[in-house]
Amino acid sequence: MGKRYSVAVVPGDGTGPEVIAEGVKVLDAAAAKAGFAIDYDYFPLGGDHYLAKGELLSPDTVARLSGADAIYLGAIGHPDVKPGILEKGILLELRFQLDQYINLRPVRLYEGVSTPLRDKGPEDIDFVVVRENTEGLYAGAGGCLKRGTADEVAVQESINTRKGVERCIRFAFDYCRRRNRRKKLTLCGKTNVLTYAFDLWQRVFDEVAAEYPDITTDYANVDAICMWMVKNPEWFDVIVTDNMFGDIITDLGAMIQGGMGIAAGGNINPGGVSMFEPIGGSAPKYTGQGKINPLAAVLAGQLMLETLGEQQAAGWIEAAVQRVLRHDIKDVAAGRMGMTTSQVGDRVVAYLLQG
Ligand code: IPM
Ligand code: MN
Repeated sequence: MGKRYSVAVVPGDGTGPEVIAEGVKVLDAAAAKAGFAIDYDYFPLGGDHYLAKGELLSPDTVARLSGADAIYLGAIGHPDVKPGILEKGILLELRFQLDQYINLRPVRLYEGVSTPLRDKGPEDIDFVVVRENTEGLYAGAGGCLKRGTADEVAVQESINTRKGVERCIRFAFDYCRRRNRRKKLTLCGKTNVLTYAFDLWQRVFDEVAAEYPDITTDYANVDAICMWMVKNPEWFDVIVTDNMFGDIITDLGAMIQGGMGIAAGGNINPGGVSMFEPIGGSAPKYTGQGKINPLAAVLAGQLMLETLGEQQAAGWIEAAVQRVLRHDIKDVAAGRMGMTTSQVGDRVVAYLLQG
């Protein structure tokens, strides 16, 4: 028998547990075929746990999670908990405490999936966004004065450190080289208005670029990036950007790749433990109905295996997903697949074992 990996699983809220169950099914099939094993350790974090125990994320949980080889996350978000509490208290807290400074989000339109972009096909939509994941507007710097009065002041600052910007940009150059497609890296910023933050980004980008003569570099303001992602998505290979802009443009990316049903992401700490998730959220209204698409979670599992160094098994998963999208699923949207959540997982496993 080959290697064993220990994966911490956080199924989370809403439809999270349903999609994670399918993901685990697929991961196990890929592992068995490739000759390695995965031990899963389940953590009941999320809205239900918070409502029952009043606890978001204990130091002991963080310590146990940081001992895993990877974390596999379903979704965090509960209709009975005020917005921001679970997101900040669990998801962002994990990203920060585990120093997962990269949020890696592939935007790829697979054959058989429809995009809202007329005249664009799989050959046009295939790029990756490298989003900084621990700083910027997400750092929580700021505060408010005289709250609830006519003189109220609210300040929320974007924190950009030399170290944080540089490690993100270096990761993006390395990733672009490793990806080995068009070898083009685009910096997405707002240098015409955010003249302190993106001046730092631009200078570091240009400095690091000198070490990567094989990579073509480009720059665009975030508003223009939104326009080009719709008009000419084929221009992009890898895009690097800050936390807030990355959050926004990757939802746009998810839409042009066919929807939240297949968009996956990885919160990466290259020297530590990384966490992989479907980016669609907990979709509470579909809970327990077997209507949610598990392919985003399956692709998050693929990204996890890739990051763990199991390229071959990851490739099998992606190929099997592509076959399901080409031959079986009617539509990637929840409730319109023409199949149940677990039937989709079963098809992926069947193709994986055949192929
Ligand atoms: C995402 C999500 C989170 C974010 C929320 C849930 C805090 O939208 O992963 O993109 O803003 O990063
Ligand atoms: Mn988001």
